[in-house]
Amino acid sequence: MKHKPISIKSSAGNYSVVCKTCSFRNAMREISALGRWSSVHLLTSPRVKRALGKELRRAFGGSKKCTVHLMDDAENAKHLSTVELAARSLVRSGADRKSLLVAVGGGVVGDVAGFVAASYLRGIPLVQVPTTLVAQVDSSIGGKTGVNLPEGKNLVGAFYPPRLVLIDPLLLKTLPAREFRGGLAEVIKYGVIADPALFSFLDKNMPLVQQRDSAVLDHIIRRSVEIKARVVSQDERESGLREILNFGHTFAHALETLTRYRHFQHGEAVAWGMMCAALLGHEIGVTPADDVSRIVALIRRMEPLPEWPRISPSAMIHAMRSDKKAHAGRIRFVLSPKIGKAQSYESVPLDAVERVLHFAPQFLLRHPRSLGPLSRKKTRG
Ligand SMILES: NC(=O)c1ccc[n+]([C@@H]2O[C@H](COP(=O)([O-])OP(=O)(O)OC[C@H]3O[C@@H](n4cnc5c(N)ncnc54)[C@H](O)[C@@H]3O)[C@@H](O)[C@H]2O)c1
Ligand SMILES: [Zn+2]
Repeated sequence: MKHKPISIKSSAGNYSVVCKTCSFRNAMREISALGRWSSVHLLTSPRVKRALGKELRRAFGGSKKCTVHLMDDAENAKHLSTVELAARSLVRSGADRKSLLVAVGGGVVGDVAGFVAASYLRGIPLVQVPTTLVAQVDSSIGGKTGVNLPEGKNLVGAFYPPRLVLIDPLLLKTLPAREFRGGLAEVIKYGVIADPALFSFLDKNMPLVQQRDSAVLDHIIRRSVEIKARVVSQDERESGLREILNFGHTFAHALETLTRYRHFQHGEAVAWGMMCAALLGHEIGVTPADDVSRIVALIRRMEPLPEWPRISPSAMIHAMRSDKKAHAGRIRFVLSPKIGKAQSYESVPLDAVERVLHFAPQFLLRHPRSLGPLSRKKTRG
């Protein structure tokens, strides 16, 4: 059945993902079906509340048991004091162990709310209602929650699976274009690592994707969620398979770090990172040339991307070696032997990486439009 909930296995309890256009309208019904709650607490941000006010009122306005709590969802507010403020707001409104916390927002709201739910009264149930494309296809699935420290991103957190994830692609209609494109990079990633049919679908329907056609969004979000669900159900704690989700991310994290999170939206860096990973795969004889051209051509249709920064290959390599995911300075790359498959490689010759980093900026010449620096400051990851 097309709209059947997707189930996810987790050591702390299995949960479902409902992925359906207009499902947000019935949020209260879905939440009541999970159990009897003494009270329901929505955690969202002023920006999300402004963008989705009408939908929020329609979904929760009629419920007397429901309290709204607001938090700043800027990346540089994703820290412990925001967790503390949210927990104190819950205490003041009488939230107890039988209360339910509902996160309505992007990945920042979801990560903070997840950590609040994991720790408030040693754990209260959580429902995720993701409102960005990244949150719908990535951050709301898999149970990772947490916040940043001044020393780095996501350094304090917990695995805490929600009771339910409710995905309504209609909520994306107010999302700024750049945030939408960032999420699209992660959708393309799922096609490359796990689903040639999704890849071809994106290729064929890119104009409709970019117009946010609701049937097309419904399809690509659902496929992405199914893929992430399958991967995290098999490898919740990232000891093996989950690593393939990092396709393009080794290069992306280095690009983001070296530009201090001011030049790229995360998905934009992933877009560049995936083109580099495709080329690197070709350099070492893993990725066929045809697949490289298809990957690069599809990603380039995401334009405009910010231009490749003035960074030397050696600085990139140094940043990749210092990444928390590198083992003893050895960089791990996820590469694609063919579209729809991915695997992690540890012994990639550095001269091949260096050659790729020399080629990469040349794609730029074929980018007629590019973007300026990010206006929002981000912290390191
Ligand atoms: N837990 C995980 O597994 C995981 C995975 C990927 C990313 N993340 C985290 O997610 C965060 C990024 O999340 P994101 O990309 O969703 O960005 P975000 O949460 O920063 O949201 C981006 C912007 O969009 C606004 N917004 C949200 N929904 C909207 C809507 N429907 N209409 C209009 N505006 C809307 C927000 O207010 C914000 O300004 C990062 O902190 C990252 O570390 C976590
Ligand atoms: Zn990512």
